[in-house]
Amino acid sequence: MNHKRVLRLAVTVAATGALAAGMTMTLTSTASAGTTLKASAAEKGRYFGAAVAGQKLSDNTYVTILNREFNSVVPENDMKWDATEPQQGRFSYTGGDRLVSHAQANGMSVRGHALLWHAQQPGWAQSMSGTALRNAAINHVTQVATHFRGKIYAWDVVNEAFADGGSGGRRDSNLQRTGNDWIEAAFRAARAADPGAKLCYNDYNTDGINAKSTGIYNMVRDFRSRGVPIDCVGFQSHLGTSLASDYQANLQRFADLGVDVQITELDVMSGGNQANIFAAVTRACMNVSRCTGITTWGVRDCDSWRGSDNALLFECSGNKKAAYTSVLNALNAGPGITPSPTTPGPTTPGPTTPPPTTPPPTTPPPGPDGCTASVSLNSWTGGFVASVKVTAGSAGTNGWNVSVTLPGGASVTNTWSATASGATGTVRFTNVNYNGRLGAGQVTEFGFQGTGSAAGVTPTCTAS
Ligand code: G3I
Repeated sequence: MNHKRVLRLAVTVAATGALAAGMTMTLTSTASAGTTLKASAAEKGRYFGAAVAGQKLSDNTYVTILNREFNSVVPENDMKWDATEPQQGRFSYTGGDRLVSHAQANGMSVRGHALLWHAQQPGWAQSMSGTALRNAAINHVTQVATHFRGKIYAWDVVNEAFADGGSGGRRDSNLQRTGNDWIEAAFRAARAADPGAKLCYNDYNTDGINAKSTGIYNMVRDFRSRGVPIDCVGFQSHLGTSLASDYQANLQRFADLGVDVQITELDVMSGGNQANIFAAVTRACMNVSRCTGITTWGVRDCDSWRGSDNALLFECSGNKKAAYTSVLNALNAGPGITPSPTTPGPTTPGPTTPPPTTPPPTTPPPGPDGCTASVSLNSWTGGFVASVKVTAGSAGTNGWNVSVTLPGGASVTNTWSATASGATGTVRFTNVNYNGRLGAGQVTEFGFQGTGSAAGVTPTCTAS
């Protein structure tokens, strides 16, 4: 765009995690003029998503809007515990698979929602407790995350585990009664099952700095310091007629812990202020370089769980509301994120950092043929997820680099368990601090997501 004014603000994130990972986040102030939510968000390095109810995929008006405006989806109910494991040990993925297929066919990423939650548990789990429930819950996380492995951008691993009100503590539930460590156990199981997905904690009434959001903040800080694998925090943002003035500051303080933040279930009470509140939330996300995307909890007013609140961006007829225009304008006016490597995962390896790598007891010298790499691709029209396996040679590694040369038009948008240098052409991936040291023959994995096609890429590995 020739009228584009680009002003680069190098923002050194005073974030423990980000600094530990050696990252500098860069916001780019770029006026743009996208004409759909997804195009405008993508121009700024973000996604714009919607919660989708499976049965709506046969509604033409609904699907037309979904495919035109959104490049991310989250199942409103289809990946919850009651839907995916209606009987213990019998898994049902029909609804989730259908949504993933729709997303892949239309170049959309998928948020997974939600592996563990006190609500919408199947009857058999509701009546369990203690060790039996803990084992069943962790098995559920493992099975479901394994089934969808490689297809999910971010999982809500745990949903709504904190209490409302002033305590800042955990909500009582059958899961909480299995022991306070149930949340970290769930995150570790999810990482082991799908190392490529970003792992999020998700909650509501966290729309500013308050007792509940501070309780969650303290948990995330503790997880990061102990190496519990958490990559992101979801702020549901089911909003009324006003927005806390410290909404953005609250997102920023979480980002400063070294996690991504996302607006995950946005809807706003209708009335005079609706368009302003939608715009203010969008601006807040745009102003936080680690805010990677926004999801509205539904598409049209009549699709919403909030019924007569008319809380979304489209009328039932499909017409765009004033709130739609205010969001689009805020996306177009907001700063973008320059392609910056993200390094999800702990900044320090904890004692129970999940597989696949365990540092060898001694440091082996690098060998001449220090490592090999192989890639497996999950591709769809317009995008792909690549999982790369790095195998150390007979001398082991102290660190490794993997280079891939992407075909023209392909671009890396997101990397996990490695740091990417470059986004197009030849892209070099370097180990992060917890997976560089491999013993002879040991294997570790990292991954990246991109737009375009990566068909035929051949990785080359160099050890140090
Ligand atoms: O599918 C059955 C249907 O067969 C049955 O006839 C009908 C009778 O009530 O129920 C249908 O299931 C309902 C389901 O939505 C699908 O429509 C459930 O009763 C109903 O409880 C369920 O509500 C969902 C709610 O979570 C459950 O707590 C809403 O759709 C969904 O929007 C809402 O989403 C939550 C997020 O997951 C977490 N954050 C808050 C958000 C809003 O409550």
